[in-house]
Amino acid sequence: MKNHHHFPGSSPDSERITLRMEKIIIHGGKPLTGEIAVSGMKNAAVAIVLASVMTEDKCVIENLPRISDVDISLELLRARGVRVKFLNRTTVEIDSTVMDSELYGEDDLARKMRASYYLVGALLARFGKARVGCPGGCDFGARPIDQHIKGFEALGADVVMEPDVINASASDGLKGASVYMDVVSVGATINVMLAAVKADGVTVIENAAHEPHVVDTANFLNACGADISGAGTDTIKIKGVKQLHGVTYAIIPDMIEAGTFLILGAATGGRLKISNVIPKHLDSITAKLEEMGATIEQDDEAVTVSTTGPLSRVNIKTQPYPGFPTDMNPQMCVLMSLAQGVSTLTEGVWENRFRYVEELKRMGAKIKVEGRTATVEGVGALNAAQVRALDLRAGAAMIVAGLAAEGRTEIDEVHHIQRGYEDIIHKLESVGADIRMVSIPDNLFDKAN
Ligand code: UD1
Repeated sequence: MKNHHHFPGSSPDSERITLRMEKIIIHGGKPLTGEIAVSGMKNAAVAIVLASVMTEDKCVIENLPRISDVDISLELLRARGVRVKFLNRTTVEIDSTVMDSELYGEDDLARKMRASYYLVGALLARFGKARVGCPGGCDFGARPIDQHIKGFEALGADVVMEPDVINASASDGLKGASVYMDVVSVGATINVMLAAVKADGVTVIENAAHEPHVVDTANFLNACGADISGAGTDTIKIKGVKQLHGVTYAIIPDMIEAGTFLILGAATGGRLKISNVIPKHLDSITAKLEEMGATIEQDDEAVTVSTTGPLSRVNIKTQPYPGFPTDMNPQMCVLMSLAQGVSTLTEGVWENRFRYVEELKRMGAKIKVEGRTATVEGVGALNAAQVRALDLRAGAAMIVAGLAAEGRTEIDEVHHIQRGYEDIIHKLESVGADIRMVSIPDNLFDKAN
């Protein structure tokens, strides 16, 4: 059978449509043992790829995760005349010496992911104006961008929301300002930081998000010649500089991918070493796994998880970093279902992140959602079933559930998973999982042979 784990950087739309027909088939119930290396962080990669055009130069980005959200980010740049060249599988050269300030025609690509909004900050910094299609992304209820707009306006931009387009311009140039974020927002923090890098004067962002990808994006920009201090704290100070230059920069490991695999290890009862990680970024996750009774061992660049008996119940509330990440909510809910006792999982970031609960119930989970809190009755084991990946992390949770459950689980709508997990089939096969990706044409091919 043909493998579909590899998504080339230039996959045209027709290829993506084929990917949408794919499903994942798992025969679960086996303990997984071995080592999985984590890829570069999705949420840092999409920001850094789009921010690279602020240099008007060549940047080489290393440890780039090969996932469809990164492909879309690169396509967004290509559509504006930027030259993108892969130097090897995970290293890309982005040459934005020449770039169109305007995109003529539809900007449908922007709708295919959330992070396309970073192009607004990046283009404002580079051209003093930006026209970008409205962002899409996972459906967690309302996903406002008012804090991004408020920040751009504070720097002197006019922002007009057309039905499908964000239109921003700063005819007198951007000027440093003080911006207080009413909510802690990763996207708004990074976006306002991008817009401020080449503004005239000093910008101070208060109540900034602390996430490692905020820090990684700031480190990338500083390596390009920006003057940003305080990233990773409440207050980020950006002194405007006239010009940036190209660099070679390696993206940090993906803490959510790492966390997903740690939960997988605890859910399947084997021994999994997750390598190429920054253990500190995983503290909130490993602390909860230990509280549930899993054994965690750490060294400089790896965390190993194993279990010696059933896991126990736990209460968790998702929060901005360094709190327990909302992007681990669905995977953690699977683990709570496999544990003993009644756990509670409160979503502290998104309005509606529990759509996946209905899918998990098809596998025998006993979960009651009231408002932002799910009460999860541990059932010890889940049943194999046919389920859907309703969004990226919900899809990852279905993989964890399927690998823990005895029997055959089929997951539909796997394009959501492909947005954020590089090479997941191979990575899981390498630790003993019985998992494969099939497409309808491949099925027919298999039958014919
Ligand atoms: C990013 C991540 C996403 C993660 C989320 C929270 C990317 C591409 N995506 O999304 O995976 O789930 O952080 O860790 O990095 N809010 C407003 N106004 C705004 C912006 C946000 O009210 O202008 C609210 C949101 O509704 C939400 C909260 O702030 O309740 C956090 O959102 P935010 O941190 O902005 O999430 P994203 O950057 O979109």
